[in-house]
Amino acid sequence: MITYPSASIFPPLPVGGTPLSDLQKEVIALKKAKDALILAHNYQCEDIQGIADFVGDSLGLAYKAAEAKQSTIVFCGVHFMAETAKIVNPTRRVLLPDMAAGCSLADSCPAEKLAAAKAADPSLYVVAYINCSAAVKAISDVIVTSGNASKIVSRVPADRNILFVPDQNLGRWVSGKTGRAMQLWPGNCYAHVQFTPGALIRTKAAHPGALVVAHPECTEAVREMADMVCSTELMVGWCKQQTAQTIIITTESGMIHRLRKEVPGKTFVSAPTDRCSCNDCKFMKMNTLTKVRDCLRDGSPEILMDEKMRVAAEIPLRRMLEWSK
Ligand code: 13P
Ligand code: SF4
Repeated sequence: MITYPSASIFPPLPVGGTPLSDLQKEVIALKKAKDALILAHNYQCEDIQGIADFVGDSLGLAYKAAEAKQSTIVFCGVHFMAETAKIVNPTRRVLLPDMAAGCSLADSCPAEKLAAAKAADPSLYVVAYINCSAAVKAISDVIVTSGNASKIVSRVPADRNILFVPDQNLGRWVSGKTGRAMQLWPGNCYAHVQFTPGALIRTKAAHPGALVVAHPECTEAVREMADMVCSTELMVGWCKQQTAQTIIITTESGMIHRLRKEVPGKTFVSAPTDRCSCNDCKFMKMNTLTKVRDCLRDGSPEILMDEKMRVAAEIPLRRMLEWSK
């Protein structure tokens, strides 16, 4: 008999919140002393979210990074996110607690391969999901995030032939929403494609009446089973509006902490995969509070970038920030 992992269930948090740990207090003191802004993605662990100045999705974090006045930005997320901060705010020092925190999606689209595709078909208009390297951004026409992809794609001139990179799942979702045909790069997020319809069916059966929200990086078969498909930030607002008591969250597990904090009174179920019930992104979870403390103290690891590439990458990123308003 096959035994499947069970979903993790998170009841509402007790009122009052958890007190700060000594390490969190040390990080907060260092942050002030070093004139730093700490930005954290929704997938970071609870102790890092607890000391961040802003916690959000890729789009919100890009805006916050662009506006940062502090001399240092500590980016608690993955490499392409920290690069984005450097591209839009180059005079700031941008630190990433663990330089090895990459992204399978970003890795699936090397800049040389994209350059070759563009050379083979110069009519292409490249729409790049923000989960890509600075080198890929530098040769793209416009950037999108999961929070604004449809809005941005609908502004691409109708006579242009779109190549969407690197996430085929997000691309297919946007194409369906906008009715815009596009070529899709064959990349995906190793974590989100592990959610399966079978695992969702079992989880729904165990939680009658529960709603399902899924990230667009999930496969089409999983997205079709969801009551809502959206970015991590939009999940917070959508969950607030629902009358259902229990909501199944089909994305990385860190999202649960933000939801429990901001949507009190509801039970969140972290959708399991067929193989595990954790759904951690191994890259996001490379950052730890100790590494945040160490990078603030040491001023490294720092994101450094060739200025010519940065200037080229800023053009499609600024276009996105402008079109997204
Ligand atoms: P969001 O922009 O929706 O937070 O997604 C980022 C990401 O990497 C999802 O895997
Ligand atoms: Fe990349 Fe997937 Fe991790 Fe997001 S969850 S950072 S897309 S590997």
